[in-house]
Amino acid sequence: MRTALIIGAGKGLGLAIAERLAADGIRVIRSDIAGNVDVTLDVSKSADVETFFASTSGVDILVNSAGIAGPSSAVTETSDAEWHRTIEVNLNGTFYMCRAAARHMAARGWGRIANIASIAGKEGNPMQGTYSASKAGVIGLTKSMGKEMAATGVIINAIAPGLIDTEMVSHMSEANRARSLGKIPMGRMGQSPEVAELVAWLVSDKVTFSTGAVYDISGGRATY
Ligand SMILES: NC(=O)c1ccc[n+]([C@@H]2O[C@H](COP(=O)([O-])OP(=O)(O)OC[C@H]3O[C@@H](n4cnc5c(N)ncnc54)[C@H](O)[C@@H]3O)[C@@H](O)[C@H]2O)c1
Repeated sequence: MRTALIIGAGKGLGLAIAERLAADGIRVIRSDIAGNVDVTLDVSKSADVETFFASTSGVDILVNSAGIAGPSSAVTETSDAEWHRTIEVNLNGTFYMCRAAARHMAARGWGRIANIASIAGKEGNPMQGTYSASKAGVIGLTKSMGKEMAATGVIINAIAPGLIDTEMVSHMSEANRARSLGKIPMGRMGQSPEVAELVAWLVSDKVTFSTGAVYDISGGRATY
């Protein structure tokens, strides 16, 4: 039986992905900074991530779904603290997890990593410059690691969702939410189970010749 570690699994997309993988018969370890989970972990703390992997064995699948929305402000109005915290969680946290998991998985000769990036990282949303930069970083990290790990049995891909109906969206400003919704040709937000379906496939044995790739799931918004 495969074991999946889902980061940010307390709610939202991470929780939906955990439920979807469990339904496939995968043993799921749910982790988050807060909430009723199996492992409480702040991904922005490098030493804590290393300590976790030093004391665990048998993680086959990693899904990095922890994230914060960051400030809804112009870059010119963004504080150092807002910038640093968003990068610490969204980008540094994904880096710490990917680095530790990739070492762990390469030693075992098989692994799957899925990073939850965002269409904001491809397009650069106005009034979300900090978040967009953090997710662009996740995309670059995924592309580099896909190439580096290609011959190890460890496959690493990212997804770039558009607007998905989770609590995170409720933290966006009304203007940002309306602007994002207006860009979706399907005219609606995505639902967490729709994203979980894509991730379940990406971390399965069925994916064998795709790594360092970015998969869109945006109701038709993404054009490249
Ligand atoms: N909802 C969307 O429209 C959307 C679109 C594109 C990408 N995403 C990305 O999808 C991922 C999941 O977002 P969501 O919509 O489910 O949001 P959410 O707020 O519902 O869930 C995010 C989870 O991450 C956890 N988290 C935050 N900081 C953490 C930390 N330092 N360490 C560990 N866990 C931490 C939170 O506690 C929460 O459970 C995020 O990376 C987000 O950027 C979301």
